[in-house]
Amino acid sequence: MADKATSFKDWYVKSSYQQFVKDEGVPLYEGSALEDLASLPLKDWERRGGKAAYTRLGNQENYNLQIVEIPPKGQLKPEHHVYDSIMYVMKGRGATTIWQEGEPKQTVEWEEGSLLAIPLNAWHQEFNSSADEPCRVLFGTNMAYAINFYHNLDFVFNNPFTFKDRYSHVMQEFFGDEGKHWEHRILETNFIADIRTLRLDDNPIRGFRHTVVQLSMASTSMGMHVNEIVEGTYMTAHRHGAGAHVIVIQGQGYELHCMSGEENSRRKIPLKPYSVVSPVHNEFHQHLNTGKGPFRMLAFRGSGSRYGWGKDYEIVSSSAQSKNRHAWAFNITYEMEDPAIREEYYRELERNGITSKLPPLEQTGG
Ligand SMILES: [Fe+2]
Repeated sequence: MADKATSFKDWYVKSSYQQFVKDEGVPLYEGSALEDLASLPLKDWERRGGKAAYTRLGNQENYNLQIVEIPPKGQLKPEHHVYDSIMYVMKGRGATTIWQEGEPKQTVEWEEGSLLAIPLNAWHQEFNSSADEPCRVLFGTNMAYAINFYHNLDFVFNNPFTFKDRYSHVMQEFFGDEGKHWEHRILETNFIADIRTLRLDDNPIRGFRHTVVQLSMASTSMGMHVNEIVEGTYMTAHRHGAGAHVIVIQGQGYELHCMSGEENSRRKIPLKPYSVVSPVHNEFHQHLNTGKGPFRMLAFRGSGSRYGWGKDYEIVSSSAQSKNRHAWAFNITYEMEDPAIREEYYRELERNGITSKLPPLEQTGG
């Protein structure tokens, strides 16, 4: 017997992650969407200082967000952990110091729009460089999975193992901004100064003039991408497993969520900068740009761009496969979708004085 529980109620642990967040004394936000991560109420966070909140979106506990605010001139206490964590800066400017136990420290400066990978189990500490303004950052993580999987916080947060294959101070230019472009629209990098100006690649599978770059950062097994939908267009709908978090970083529009064969379940979610959506398992979803200028998003999702989970990259990214109703990432092309979607979109554009840039259906080629 591992413990002293005498009743099933005391013995059964529904979620070690939810228990962890409760013990942190900060809010846990649930649902499929949050309107504005930049103004989301946070609470004082004793463990690291500053204020924080966590999410449990898309009815899953594999991936989650941790939203953190650092007061002016403030800093967080250092930590290290056996889960992947990628930091995005929503507001303010500051720096993160990163080091492996016993090695020299390295400092990376960031500001709004920066994306920084925290190497697995490396120490990291964040500082606010402003004397007047708080800064607000979010961490996209697989912390929920790690805490539920090991259900031992000492293992997750106090583990002496150093992943020197992932990061060491001898890896010069680890946080250089350049990165390397691989095929399949993949950028390998550990720091991007501003993802709002990152150059993206064409991705005709998901809609007219849609662009994307998949990111492989700090050898994580977590996937990420930045994508953009040009003014007057929208992305076609697709579905996959739960856990993806799509965060708007520029522009405005709305999201449609719908379960297969249940058109009555279609939900419309308004989107603006720092809205986040997270569809549940196999729920169709699509992003529609109704604003002036581009609509750009940052997504955290399963399956890393370099370290995958057994899926053949060539197959899942091919247009033919995504038209197969049984495929992993089945895609509803413009020709296949409910005509009401496009009709409503045109009405929304008219309301905002935006001209559609979508070609007529017969010219889109799916
Ligand atoms: Fe998706």
